[in-house]
Amino acid sequence: MDAASRPAVVIDNGTGYTKMGFAGNVEPCFIIPTVVSVNESFLGQSAAQGKGGWLAHHNAGVMADLDFFIGDEALARSHASDTYTLSYPIRHGQVENWDTMERFWQQCIFNYLRCDPEDHYFLMTESPLTAPENREYTGEIMFETFNVPGLYIAVQAVLALAAGYTASKCEMTGVVVDAGDGVTHVVPVADGYVMGSSIKSIPIAGRDITTFVQQLLRERGEPVPPEDSFDVARRIKEAYGYTCADIVKEFNKHDREPAKYVKQWTGTNTKTGSSYSCDIGYERFLAPEVFFSPEIYSSDFTVPLPEVVDKCIQSSPIDTRRALYKNIVLSGGSTLFKDFQRRLQRDIKKIADTRTIASDIRNGGELKSQAVDVNVVGHPMQRFAVWFGGSVLASTPEFYTACHTKAEYEEYGPSICRTNPVFRGMF
Ligand SMILES: Nc1ncnc2c1ncn2[C@@H]1O[C@H](COP(=O)(O)OP(=O)(O)OP(=O)(O)O)[C@@H](O)[C@H]1O
Ligand SMILES: [Mg+2]
Repeated sequence: MDAASRPAVVIDNGTGYTKMGFAGNVEPCFIIPTVVSVNESFLGQSAAQGKGGWLAHHNAGVMADLDFFIGDEALARSHASDTYTLSYPIRHGQVENWDTMERFWQQCIFNYLRCDPEDHYFLMTESPLTAPENREYTGEIMFETFNVPGLYIAVQAVLALAAGYTASKCEMTGVVVDAGDGVTHVVPVADGYVMGSSIKSIPIAGRDITTFVQQLLRERGEPVPPEDSFDVARRIKEAYGYTCADIVKEFNKHDREPAKYVKQWTGTNTKTGSSYSCDIGYERFLAPEVFFSPEIYSSDFTVPLPEVVDKCIQSSPIDTRRALYKNIVLSGGSTLFKDFQRRLQRDIKKIADTRTIASDIRNGGELKSQAVDVNVVGHPMQRFAVWFGGSVLASTPEFYTACHTKAEYEEYGPSICRTNPVFRGMF
């Protein structure tokens, strides 16, 4: 059986979480935190042995190469002992530490997916603003270290659009709002091609929202142990956060009927084992409000998400704009807040309608423009839309012809990985 008749491996590396599995599946096999813990003590030992210890140094390096963990296991090891140091290879969507990234992939392939990389084509993803050199690095690692037979590097937003496409039967034209853990991107796509100059990037995503919830709990004096507070804030955000229609009304509602809106959280202190409980109040709706009123969290970035989406569409070619407004597809964990879709759609529609009315007034009210049809698309695969889109595309026959092969890599070198053709399976 040749590699092209086996399912391709699909790996979406996010700032916070990596989704991995096989093409054709509906869900990734594993979703694990993108983190590696390395046992630094070996390297420390070799340094202590001084000059003459070349062999010892070499052996220590080999041991350090072997003694590392990824994902939840890495986090558990670093909590349990000080010998492991955590390293996060991706920041704000971009790979920053290629050594760590390679180790991470190694365990993804051999310990999690448990497959031989020489037997499968690979689909990897990248953030929309990644430099072409980074694609070469990915290609080098995949072809040289893992010896994969074929590789395709896809832009996350295009995959997310493909996921929305299969879910809602729209065109491969649309705007993807991908709000993950480390970065939020608004990416216009026309016929499967990313319109690079109109991409907008927002430095606020899930991790910031968790920090914000953590701050609110701390300021109110809730008895959450500091070492657990980030994780507790994240869980509270994910379980109880919701998007409101009007922030002032929501404060009033909470004040009027606290029994209905205020929730309780009970947890166990991971160090002492004693239990504690705390209230969950305004942070429930203030968490996602960070996207709509960013000034409540940050003084550096204050443009609301609906305005960013509108600006993105307005900066795209005029003949694509109506189609873009019609298909605004959500992707990423931070778009999962209840009613997020409804609020985003309402606010974008408001901006678009105000513009239409203003232009009608400028025209003397004679030519009535047609109202813009704004449609924000959510779907059940939203949490891992990028991975799901990858799974669908990599299970089409065209995928195998669009991949760069090992033979091509050997003949032309890593630069071939810079471009990855849009293929028919995307439509
Ligand atoms: N139900 C939920 N409600 C709100 N936020 C959630 C929910 N589930 C997950 N999240 C948040 O989504 C984020 C992870 O999303 P995702 O996996 O899309 O990010 P990523 O791909 O790792 O990051 P990025 O795309 O920014 O590189 C985390 O911050 C997590 O707390
Ligand atoms: Mg992501």
